[in-house]
Amino acid sequence: MITLPVPAKYPAGKTAIAPSILSADLLNLGEKIKQAQEAGADWLHIDIMDGLFVPNLSFGPATVKAIDGFAGLAQDVHLMVENPADFIEPFIKAGASSLTLHIESKGDLKKLLEDVKAHGLKCGVSIKPDTPVKELMPFADLIDLILVMSVYPGFGGQKFLPSSPAQISAVRDIITQTGRPVWLEVDGGINAETASAAVKAGADALVAGNAVFGQSDIKKALSDIRAAAETSI
Ligand code: DX5
Ligand code: ZN
Repeated sequence: MITLPVPAKYPAGKTAIAPSILSADLLNLGEKIKQAQEAGADWLHIDIMDGLFVPNLSFGPATVKAIDGFAGLAQDVHLMVENPADFIEPFIKAGASSLTLHIESKGDLKKLLEDVKAHGLKCGVSIKPDTPVKELMPFADLIDLILVMSVYPGFGGQKFLPSSPAQISAVRDIITQTGRPVWLEVDGGINAETASAAVKAGADALVAGNAVFGQSDIKKALSDIRAAAETSI
């Protein structure tokens, strides 16, 4: 397992960029991951879908296990599943660097997050566009990452929702109140045009699927997003 960096130790003025393999050419996944690593990706974002929490299926622990250690990139695993309790152990064993659970999913999330941390992984919570940010409060002193969905989860290639910056800045306020080093990662519709709005609202990590792995020139795609993010800080 490769450790996810901590925002407090991150170079000032740098926004982390996490390409999502959901949009990658799966027949050439290894090659594409290497290209993303060479292009300066900070870590990989791995979307896990169960067909219940979202109307789609994607990857499982076997994917994370295959990637673990391959290109030296940490794997930020985003669990879009109804019952995260069923999947914590398999993803820990597979080599996930962090596990992010949706606050809209079922179970004793606090207990599950503590379990993730006890195994040495970073833990996070994710919030859908219509969920009030105050629902994050019970987890604020425990988590390492908050993942704000800037699209309705389930599919790559959707448009960044105009309501997202307000939700991102409300989450930034919560993180500031904790005084803890918590990543504010934004997921959905991020590209060189929308990155700026997310960063200005308070994001310090951006997931990008279609805008990185959906492009033929991964290096250029990533550096365009990075340039847009960094001129917005
Ligand atoms: C959507 C996923 C995202 C997705 C983002 O439910 O959580 O991580 O891969 O893809 P883009 O960047 O194409 O919107
Ligand atoms: Zn995601």
